[in-house]
Amino acid sequence: MLASKRIILGVTGGIAVYKAVDLASRLKKEGAEVRVIMTEAAAAFVQPLTFRAISGNPVHLHRFEEPRVWNVEHIGLAENADLIIVAPATANILACMALGRAPDLLSTVLLAARGPILVAPAMNTAMYMHPATQEHLALLRARGVAVAGPEEGDLACGSAGAGRMSEPADIVAAARSLLERGGRLAGRRALVTAGGTRERIDPVRYIGNFSSGKMGYAVAGALAAAGAAVTLVSAPAALSVPPGVRRVEVESALQMREAVLADFAGSDIVVMAAAVADYRPVEPAAQKIKKQGGDITLTLTENPDILAELGRRKQNRVLVAFAAETERGRERAEAKLRRKNADFIVLNDVTRPGAGFGTDTNIVAFLYPEGQAREFPLMSKQEVAERITEEIIRLFYKGERK
Ligand code: PMT
Repeated sequence: MLASKRIILGVTGGIAVYKAVDLASRLKKEGAEVRVIMTEAAAAFVQPLTFRAISGNPVHLHRFEEPRVWNVEHIGLAENADLIIVAPATANILACMALGRAPDLLSTVLLAARGPILVAPAMNTAMYMHPATQEHLALLRARGVAVAGPEEGDLACGSAGAGRMSEPADIVAAARSLLERGGRLAGRRALVTAGGTRERIDPVRYIGNFSSGKMGYAVAGALAAAGAAVTLVSAPAALSVPPGVRRVEVESALQMREAVLADFAGSDIVVMAAAVADYRPVEPAAQKIKKQGGDITLTLTENPDILAELGRRKQNRVLVAFAAETERGRERAEAKLRRKNADFIVLNDVTRPGAGFGTDTNIVAFLYPEGQAREFPLMSKQEVAERITEEIIRLFYKGERK
């Protein structure tokens, strides 16, 4: 998988730099063409000459150095890489990446990069656990950056805890799987829905729900990172569009249905993560409804079930449903799975802390038509999205869809 891949290894300053030497050597042995960029701090730990000898290529240290091969300036480096690995990744480089800061060559290359990026954090536990570092990592994950480790164990500073850089063999394995995933859905088209629809009552009010769109956006990002061309049909959500994803903005269930049907014919994969209103006001008032004293009655009519409609026309597409349940989750989700003819349904019991609407995490189970179930522990929505993507890839290549 790594043979003749052009990999940039970004090395930042920390005691784990010595492990990056082993990592460079392993990447080289796998047949990759390795270019090393070191920060000044990294060069204080290990001489650039070491990486030059191992990689067989000059080491890049400064932004304004003379161009060498592959149009070597920051844009050239970024554009030509199949993968960028940052190992060890300090709290400082993670902050630069999260905030889009580019004070040196490595951060400039990372800002210009459009391909996959893998970071292997390494730092003191307090720095790793600091809310700033955790928020930066969450932001990077949400943008599709893969994160390997860190591990728990004894640290160079004398303390013990989370913050030790992953072993080079594990980073190589993560790089392999990232590049493999990067190609598995290439040439496939995916359609994802996200967010909660809004059903107008009058020009200023609507019936809505607590969906933030985070789950659906994470799925769209993970599918795009796996190489699919993704259309994200999104109900209102205060989220940025994941890299490589085309967003179509809608408001109501009827608009979502229209946008989904417009793209469905050309799609190989459909993931319905949106919380679609089952009912809408029969006739939204043309003007703002005035307070008249006493109760008022709102008559609702049923919205079309978009997923059930797709299920009837599914053919050999992979169709993934979601079920947000508050009681008898498994029984209800299984009934939905059958009714909607999906390949699997992602059940989230939204009463569990850390699961469901608005959170950055979720607790899900995949349920299948044959009755099997796979249960997962609390994970970030990014990780859930990656599991869903892996499962889609498995189903896609299982049978006639090859
Ligand atoms: O957006 P977040 O804040 O991250 O929250 C994520 C989530 C909880 C919204 C998400 O994980 C989730 O569970 N989405 C589905 C929510 C839902 O409303 O499920 P449901 O059980 O009502 O619907 C079942 C399936 O049918 C869903 O795939 C839904 O998109 C689809 N559906 C429902 C009604 C309808 N009229 N048309 C549909 O297509």
